[in-house]
Amino acid sequence: MPKSPGGALLFQFNLDRDSGVPIYRQLDASLRRLILDGTLEPRQKLPSTRELARELGVSRITVKSVYEQLVAEGYAQSRTGAGTFIAEGLDFEASPKMRLPRHKARVPDIEISDRARSIMSSKASMRHGQTEPFRPGVPALDRFPVKIWNKYMLDAMSRDERHHLSYGQVNGSTALRRSIARHLTDARGMQVEADQIVITSGAQQAFVLIAFVLLNKDDTVWYENPGHIAGRDVMQIMGARVVPVPIDAEGLDINYAVEKYPKPAIIFTTPSHQQPLGTTMSLVRRLALLNYAHENDAWVIEDDYDSEFRYRGRPLPALSALDSERRVFYVGTFSKSMFAAIRTGYIVVPPALVETFAKARNLLGQSSSAVVEEALSQFMNDGRFVEHIRKMRRIYRDRRDVLFECLMNDCADTLEPQSTDAGMHMLAWLKNDLDDLTVHRALLKQGIESLPLSVYCIEPLDRSGIVLGFSSADERRIPKLVKRMATVLNSLD
Ligand SMILES: Cc1ncc(COP(=O)(O)O)c(C=O)c1O
Repeated sequence: MPKSPGGALLFQFNLDRDSGVPIYRQLDASLRRLILDGTLEPRQKLPSTRELARELGVSRITVKSVYEQLVAEGYAQSRTGAGTFIAEGLDFEASPKMRLPRHKARVPDIEISDRARSIMSSKASMRHGQTEPFRPGVPALDRFPVKIWNKYMLDAMSRDERHHLSYGQVNGSTALRRSIARHLTDARGMQVEADQIVITSGAQQAFVLIAFVLLNKDDTVWYENPGHIAGRDVMQIMGARVVPVPIDAEGLDINYAVEKYPKPAIIFTTPSHQQPLGTTMSLVRRLALLNYAHENDAWVIEDDYDSEFRYRGRPLPALSALDSERRVFYVGTFSKSMFAAIRTGYIVVPPALVETFAKARNLLGQSSSAVVEEALSQFMNDGRFVEHIRKMRRIYRDRRDVLFECLMNDCADTLEPQSTDAGMHMLAWLKNDLDDLTVHRALLKQGIESLPLSVYCIEPLDRSGIVLGFSSADERRIPKLVKRMATVLNSLD
């Protein structure tokens, strides 16, 4: 261990000749660490290059070049004829935050904003990580035509004009916006121009943008109770007063909300397939909602997340298709119809606000990829998208049937499953006062996912339930999995 000229213990170097990291880098890193953590103090003399090279068994040139670099960066100063010294101005005592922790430092209490504190209490991250059977909202990823999709991605990457290898258009690919506009006309009965569409990195980014552009602190947001978790949390984080509106057989209970919470700035709803109860909003209720929004200058967010999957009759036209006053922000996503990692969704924006949304999208981090946008557009134009949805619809219908039948057969003592004509999940009410969070945790221990109904709620409901996704569960495995569920539920009963 080298000593300082005065004999004091100076360095604790551990040069590892087998590590693959060049010796000069190791020496450089060690010296910086010793300077930053205060072991080497300002004005302290470093050993001469000759002395240190001999002590460490390295070449003098190595030590010299490390010293030169430290001098060049201001860590050290060289005085002709006197040697190399730790730089004078490095007063880490005066700015202790700059100091690197010595050995076992205590993790400091970090001040975070109120906004960040509410982010920490959100339950929306439940959709991350490895997926187990029955997680709600996961498509049949094993049935996605990966090889065909790869071809579209490769084509998009290899085209002659390469604008899409940059940031693309400020409101998203023109080609994709045209493909989506055509799709919305054919499938959702909407008259939409491509210019009204802003591409996002999924429905969640659409909600963030809408909240960012439209909400002021303490604005009232009518929110379905129970309702979509991540959309609710982002409106709350933006400082809005998000209030619970119950769902009845026709959808969002407008009369209740009008009486209790007048003057909402935004009304959030999932009219095609209420998340999570599965109700479809009636025509009478749709008209009443649009009327109310128009007369009270409220905006409506229509989250149309899984309307492609309807198992009886044709999909109903979107709420937005009836909106002659342009009060509705229609939000679509490819997370369910394709796969979530595609990170592509869109908002149909009232024309007067398109530019604002496009600029907000840019400033808040454009997180969708122009290459993916091009590939997806071509995939849609070639009819692949509609073909894929048609296939998935058949698969999901079968999976729904098998799950419902198995639950009725094996879990009738503990669950009351609700059959559904649409979507990718079903609700099962819990019997015998079972607590949904306890059930969720117990099932998870046995490799089965569910979402407790209570996490969708701002205000608790009278009944407790769990939400089960059927779209990603292989129908051949469902009977066995449900038997396992029955065992777990009976043990809690
Ligand atoms: C009601 C609802 N809306 C939208 C989404 C989609 O979110 P994203 O497009 O950000 O993946 C989900 C996904 O779970 C959802 O449940």
